[in-house]
Amino acid sequence: MSVLEKVSTLLGVGGARSAPPPRYAGIADGLVLTEGEAWAWWTCETSNSDLMSEAERDAEQARAETTLTQVLAGMDVHLRVLWSPYSADDYRDEAAQMYVAGRWQEWAEHRADRLDQIALPIRHVLLGVRLGARKTPAARRVTDAAGASAQGVPARELATWHTAARRLGRRLEASPWRCSMTTVETLAWMITREQHRGIPAPVAGRSLVTGATLAALTQGRALPYPDHLRMADATGEIVAWVAVLTMPTWAERMATPGPGEWLRTLAEVLYLPPDEEDQDRDPEAAGLLVPVSPEASVRLRVLPKRVAIARTDATAKLVREQKHSAANHAIGDPGQVITDAGQTMADLRADLEREELSLVEDHPRLVVTSTTSLEDLRARVDAVTAHYGDYGITVQIGTDEQRALWLETWAGDRVRVPGLGHVRDTSAMAGAWWWGGARVGSDTGPVIGYLTGSTPGVVRLSPVADGRDATTVALIGRSGRGKTTAAMMMALEAAFYGAWVLALDFKGDLGGLTVAADRYALPSRLVQMTRAHAGAADLIPLLAEAGRDAARAEVPAQLSLVTPPHLRAAGAEVALQAAANAVISGSPSPATWQVLQHLRDASDPVARATGDALFELSQTPHGSLFMGRPERGAAPALTTQSGVWAVQLPGLALPGAGDARESWTSVQSLSVAVMHSILAYGVTTAGRPDLRTLPKTIMVPEVHVLTGTGQGRHFLDYIARVGRALGVRFILDTQDATGLLLLPGVIEQLAMVIGFQLTSAPQQDALAELLGLPVGPATRERIRKLAIGDGDGIRHGHSIIRDPKFGAAATQWDVPTAELLDDLDTSPRTAAEAAPDGVPA
Ligand SMILES: Nc1ncnc2c1ncn2[C@@H]1O[C@H](COP(=O)(O)OP(=O)(O)O)[C@@H](O)[C@H]1O
Ligand SMILES: [Mg+2]
Repeated sequence: MSVLEKVSTLLGVGGARSAPPPRYAGIADGLVLTEGEAWAWWTCETSNSDLMSEAERDAEQARAETTLTQVLAGMDVHLRVLWSPYSADDYRDEAAQMYVAGRWQEWAEHRADRLDQIALPIRHVLLGVRLGARKTPAARRVTDAAGASAQGVPARELATWHTAARRLGRRLEASPWRCSMTTVETLAWMITREQHRGIPAPVAGRSLVTGATLAALTQGRALPYPDHLRMADATGEIVAWVAVLTMPTWAERMATPGPGEWLRTLAEVLYLPPDEEDQDRDPEAAGLLVPVSPEASVRLRVLPKRVAIARTDATAKLVREQKHSAANHAIGDPGQVITDAGQTMADLRADLEREELSLVEDHPRLVVTSTTSLEDLRARVDAVTAHYGDYGITVQIGTDEQRALWLETWAGDRVRVPGLGHVRDTSAMAGAWWWGGARVGSDTGPVIGYLTGSTPGVVRLSPVADGRDATTVALIGRSGRGKTTAAMMMALEAAFYGAWVLALDFKGDLGGLTVAADRYALPSRLVQMTRAHAGAADLIPLLAEAGRDAARAEVPAQLSLVTPPHLRAAGAEVALQAAANAVISGSPSPATWQVLQHLRDASDPVARATGDALFELSQTPHGSLFMGRPERGAAPALTTQSGVWAVQLPGLALPGAGDARESWTSVQSLSVAVMHSILAYGVTTAGRPDLRTLPKTIMVPEVHVLTGTGQGRHFLDYIARVGRALGVRFILDTQDATGLLLLPGVIEQLAMVIGFQLTSAPQQDALAELLGLPVGPATRERIRKLAIGDGDGIRHGHSIIRDPKFGAAATQWDVPTAELLDDLDTSPRTAAEAAPDGVPA
């Protein structure tokens, strides 16, 4: 709907092209004051629009529209989408606050180097609103020392603007943009960068910046050329080439999702840098395309309905006059443009009167910058033009207007070239989705990877559970997709943070964790549980320590797992329960080996036979761990210091996700029973009073083995609940999303779900539910594609992460160095090797 633009152009409205640039009087948190005006600025949060359901998107877009019409109506708004490279130096600084253990400096350095290498652009979406004109004339302000604060802006005036900004801010906070006041640092950055000064603004911690400091931010030199500007630094050297593009024509109707999201898609514009052009490869496949990161500056004003109707009437009148004048002056046919404009205005007026429609007048500009060369700038501009051309939007360089258009983008400036504006309905403006894209994780904490959705960014996860909130992290997906690697990266992060990390290695693929810990001098040990640790995993003392009476149910269930089927069929379970009850009630220090003894001493033949069978099994390495009689004076296998402790059970043979209980071999049954116990072992160790203040993480891989049986499910529920009470972070991994869904107790405790590729529809649907994504074909396809890379190989470490705060977003886990990836290699190192899809051989 670019009708007004043409009318304006035809009328030759002058605008304020030659007005002097804004002179800044002061900036403070959330405020930019020029000599004549006061503007409030907010930072918009990214919303996870990539993975929203259509209904959620529509609802959020409608809320954005409501904010435009109800909160911002009649105000001058300045929307800016800016990019900055992710600063790895900041990360180096943060590391000192984050880490305490091992050679964390080296660890942080490896991550920072990697961030430098990936050079992720970070998006900043800022929303400025003109609060009003400043009343004090400039000349008086300087001389009127009495009313002025030491910094030069009267303190009372500043307070007034702050109040006005806060009032508006409360309503913007509640909008889908979740606005927060822009900090003075960010505002200083925004102002400085237009000048390409490249000097960090020395404003940190200052509540008001004025005078010489402020002047220093704006001392750039821009040399205008017909189709670009050259930015000179203090020595006169050209440091950047900038082109301001306008968007003169627009498709009549645009859909969202799709071309209507013209502000969100800024992130998606890629180009081939000129120095890569000679390559003989397909640039897309070879990964040579890099983001252009065009920036947007949109000045807009929402016209309340009454004003909008008056506006259409005025425009219609102008169109009529134009027609008339063209006819009178015999300069020929008034032209199709004017006739169309008249018709569009008539239609629009009818719509406005009939519906609750309101209009927005906007002046969009795109700013494209190169810091390498003019040729590079041109390549970038071409990419932007082509990108929007596909959407039916004409984007072109504002020829001969570069300086005026560039000044327009400054905070506190105004529309200088009015002939390039548009009037559209507010839903179309909200549909631009400037705040849309992807985001997940925490605001602080270790960087574990980067977003792979429509907007770039790093993904940070807090290294340990915070407080007594939900603590369990579930990694779900097919074997070989990167679950264990991701879990080990989390475990290492926790260890650098000073946590006690217990990694239960049921599959024999966690040996690399202690190798990696050694590389960075983190305390660590690979504990191999053997017969020497007989009784170490006995559930009766373990569960007693946790202060529960759970052993009465858990022990018979565990023993039943390893009882031969013919004895179970003969009623062994009744005997097991009776023996367990007798021992737990009667013995001064009850233990499972006593239950076996009790059974062997029984008069009932089934009980005796069961006791004998279990006693034989208790002589095996696995059986001895949970049913064996401890040796006198055996040293505990684990310490409770912070560090990485991997407990390995050599020769464990776990059944696969799909194996029926009846088909388990006796070694598999024993393995499951041991796993059962070792988990309890970890939990009770974590529950020791001397560990109260220590951050704790327990890593439990392959839990689908437990979700496969009733006892296992019950047990996992129990563990998750105890874990929460103890403030322990649990990292679970499983190949079985449907099985996990059957565990309400675990689901309740989930703080985070990390979904990798799954290939069957029921599994994909279960994962969709766990991730809070719409269950249906689109999500299935998304989950199926997770591990599909550029070539024909598997894309490892690609997942969808759901956090409780922001929702879900696609994330690539990133292992910062090749050496570390090598250390963490999960290829089978022991006899318990994994066959395809995780079914151990
Ligand atoms: N983020 C990653 N980047 C690169 N390679 C990875 C990544 N995650 C996993 N891999 C590779 O994929 C293989 C399988 O990963 P693993 O974590 O064992 O998967 P899972 O636990 O899902 O079976 C590992 O040998 C590892 O080298
Ligand atoms: Mg694994």
